[in-house]
Amino acid sequence: MIASARARPRVAILTDETGWHTRKLREALAARGFEGRCADLADCRFDSRAPSGLVIPGFGRELPVAAIVRGIAGGSLEQITKRLGILHALRESAVPVYNDARAIERSVDKSMTSFLLARAGIDTPPAWALESVAQARRILMREASAGHCLVLKPMFGSQGRGLVRIGLVDGECVPLPDLAEFGHLAYLQRYVPPPGTGGYDWRVLVVGGRAVAAMQRHSDHWIRNVARGARSVAAPLTPALAQISEAAAGALGMDYAGVDLLPDTTAASGLQVMEVNGVAAWRALQRVAGVDIAAAIVDDLLARRLGIAPGASPRRDGVR
Ligand SMILES: Nc1ncnc2c1ncn2[C@@H]1O[C@H](COP(=O)(O)OP(=O)(O)O)[C@@H](O)[C@H]1O
Ligand SMILES: [Mg+2]
Repeated sequence: MIASARARPRVAILTDETGWHTRKLREALAARGFEGRCADLADCRFDSRAPSGLVIPGFGRELPVAAIVRGIAGGSLEQITKRLGILHALRESAVPVYNDARAIERSVDKSMTSFLLARAGIDTPPAWALESVAQARRILMREASAGHCLVLKPMFGSQGRGLVRIGLVDGECVPLPDLAEFGHLAYLQRYVPPPGTGGYDWRVLVVGGRAVAAMQRHSDHWIRNVARGARSVAAPLTPALAQISEAAAGALGMDYAGVDLLPDTTAASGLQVMEVNGVAAWRALQRVAGVDIAAAIVDDLLARRLGIAPGASPRRDGVR
């Protein structure tokens, strides 16, 4: 007998934007006998009088069997704290959250990402996070005298927004800007120059501890985010790329991660991990990848977090 759509266990796709990614996840979930239902974390709420203490719109009095975090909208410190709090509360309520709030927190904070990568012995550019303007200037001068320029990044930035190169940039001395625009915090990362003309980044997607697809991002600009017009180009997933990306995702405790890397002939691995994205988009990567990425994410969620073997359907009395 075919179970009706209503009887299918429901997975929350937590997102502030419905579109291509949420459609792909819903299709992949449906193919495995689950219903993917979108909810915006901004609309989820704590309610100590609700049976679970939480209200997830679209789930009535119940909680989802699992949650996939696809997007968290920007907001005030209070709003973000509550949205991440909902993810923590789901975990406390035994709902697997993919990626877990702790992993998302580690990756949205670029200084924590740098700290964890360096501590795990993974090649990553030297980085500093500090509040003192005087100290930031001293680091800048020390780095400049060693021939390095630095990238000043908004600590919670994404899509290449707000990055500036400072120090010795193309032969010119660029001073530290007013840190007010950076929340009075200097997150500085040593700039990794391209090895030749026409530089590129790599983006590697890691799902369940395994690198599944890679691409290069080419641009004439030094900031090579697809959102900033970089071209995505298919790239082979070499063992070196796979190994360092898997290690980076592991160091941050990610279920799935988009790892950004740069080529660097001075690094032991020949690569530098620049950042790890815990709420990674994969549309550009899907165009050049050989695997169905949404299906890989759903299969991994079901296998590792819900104990449902590949190809198996959910049990009618629950999911395990
Ligand atoms: N240290 C660096 N050296 C060289 N290029 C960098 C460096 N940091 C960032 N970039 C460039 O800027 C882009 C965006 O930086 P990233 O740290 O990934 O921030 P975002 O979260 O905005 O994507 C990178 O993909 C890369 O092209
Ligand atoms: Mg990036």
